[in-house]
Amino acid sequence: MKEEFIRNFCIVAHIDHGKSTLADRFLEETHIIGKGTEVSQILDSMDLEREKGITIKSHAVRMVHNYQGQDYVLNLIDTPGHVDFSYEVSRALASCEGAILLVDASQGIEAQTMSNLYLALDNNLEILPVINKIDLPKADIEGTENDLCEILGCLPEEIIKVSAKTGEGVKDLLDAIVTRLPAPKGNPDTAPRALIFDSYFDMYRGVVVLVRVFEGKLQKGDKIKLFSTAREYEIEEIGYLGLKFSPQTELTCGEAGYIIANIKEVADARVGDTITLSKGGCENPLPGFREPKPMVYSSIFPINGEDYENLVESIAKLKLNDASLIYEKESSAALGYGFRCGFLGMLHLEIVKERLLREYNIPIMATTPSVRFLIKLKSGEELQINNPVDFPDPSTIESIMEPFMDTEIIVPTDYIGNVLKLVQERRGIQKDIQYIDEKRVTLHYELPLIEIIFDFYDKLKTVSRGYASLDYTFKDYRETDVVKVDILINGEKVDAMSFICHQDKAYNWGKSVTETLAEVIPKHLFKIALQAAIGGKIIARSTINPLRKDVLAKCYGGDVSRKRKLLEKQKEGKKKMKEIGSVSVPQEAFLAVLKAD
Ligand code: GTP
Repeated sequence: MKEEFIRNFCIVAHIDHGKSTLADRFLEETHIIGKGTEVSQILDSMDLEREKGITIKSHAVRMVHNYQGQDYVLNLIDTPGHVDFSYEVSRALASCEGAILLVDASQGIEAQTMSNLYLALDNNLEILPVINKIDLPKADIEGTENDLCEILGCLPEEIIKVSAKTGEGVKDLLDAIVTRLPAPKGNPDTAPRALIFDSYFDMYRGVVVLVRVFEGKLQKGDKIKLFSTAREYEIEEIGYLGLKFSPQTELTCGEAGYIIANIKEVADARVGDTITLSKGGCENPLPGFREPKPMVYSSIFPINGEDYENLVESIAKLKLNDASLIYEKESSAALGYGFRCGFLGMLHLEIVKERLLREYNIPIMATTPSVRFLIKLKSGEELQINNPVDFPDPSTIESIMEPFMDTEIIVPTDYIGNVLKLVQERRGIQKDIQYIDEKRVTLHYELPLIEIIFDFYDKLKTVSRGYASLDYTFKDYRETDVVKVDILINGEKVDAMSFICHQDKAYNWGKSVTETLAEVIPKHLFKIALQAAIGGKIIARSTINPLRKDVLAKCYGGDVSRKRKLLEKQKEGKKKMKEIGSVSVPQEAFLAVLKAD
């Protein structure tokens, strides 16, 4: 296909503004799926793909749209919708010439609308502003229009209004993609340069690499080289992405598609890497490649010790499909064998936990998340610590640095006071406050990452009644005063409960953790002491008084079945507990610090 008839574009939006629904309408309008088929959100549901037997993860889909008698190829490249994956987003954007900026008319512009817009502008994309959900009675079309004009410096008539639900305006939008977004431009007659914007592991096909060809062409049978690893492969299959693989003989300049080349794991086909020929290839890679950098660390342990072997196998399988997950074996006195893992962010951690449970049937518990601290010892030695267990003796420490994030919060003016208070409590450094309109403001803060991962998002939602939205990116490392707080249950230090926090917070958090533990650990027949300590010094203490009455005492009379039920319930409950000394501790106790205030 000639470049002038190709458009590569993506949709950028805040979560829930209707990206997947709009993509469905595009697929209908271009006859990839039949009208009225209830295949909602094809582009982002892994489960659904499996159920429907769709062969690819569909992180890109090729559609043909006829405009004034001419067929145009429209490649819709999907972008992950969460702040943890902003690097992946940036590479998907780099594969496009244009972006649809989609805004829900009932919500208006939110934090991720802005951060994704900036990313798109950074990548020099042409922006096509679109207002969605115009069918909703509470849609504020005019207000949203004004805000968009203000931010983009565009005219109201340049903004396309659609309802992804009813399909209204969608055909006009497809026409606008053709007429208003630029065609790709590259040299078709030079050595190939193709950008990997996604890769995933398919059980039957191995690693499938999604690419955008910027120059030259790639053909079936070509011997190729990946820049970051210098490894070489042979293209076994190459083609277009629809809902199914559509093999072709080549992908030319300007096109997007997939490659299968006997690559063993996705870590070997990193997002952002450049593909060229192994002989006669291009000299330099495309710009912007970055190694995935974990930001959040946590230890995961199987809830049932006997699942460990299974976990070893499953986590390796997960890794095949998730280049950003890093892990190493760890053993804990309290929890037995498990893994210390690095994640891109809290959502990534949740996804991994959820996948281990759903796809591999292994219930796991994760310890209090931490970040990576850079520690300089008085001896001159420099350490990188992400696990409280490895925290050195405070008397040997010269200095500690912690990661800070550039943070953007968009919030209705009614809740500014609450949000400012929360951000201050979290050691935020105010950069600026900008009014978007009379109802909403953008707050720019620098916040320590550790303060964000300790339940900041939930608290932000609570203090703003769900209205605030949050976005953040890594800024730099700064000197700090953090300490390790240990938790003791009946005098026994529970290694998996230790956490690292700022010195000024240690007392309050230690106290709050012991209080939370006193609530979540059930009563035993004996008294339980819960303590928080720094070094050998106890900073907080709570007590769980012994159980006086037998649980069965409640069941007066001879109701045998009720008694049995109660005992069984207790047994079930026991299974989910971890024995620490002689105390049965439920899983949620290991995340008590997240509940701390
Ligand atoms: P993430 O995948 O979580 O980022 O969300 P998304 O942006 O893909 O949003 P999605 O398409 O899942 O839509 C969110 C909700 O809005 C769904 O319940 C949709 O049915 C609904 N929705 C999307 N577009 C419209 C629209 O034009 N009108 C109305 N009334 N509802 C819509």
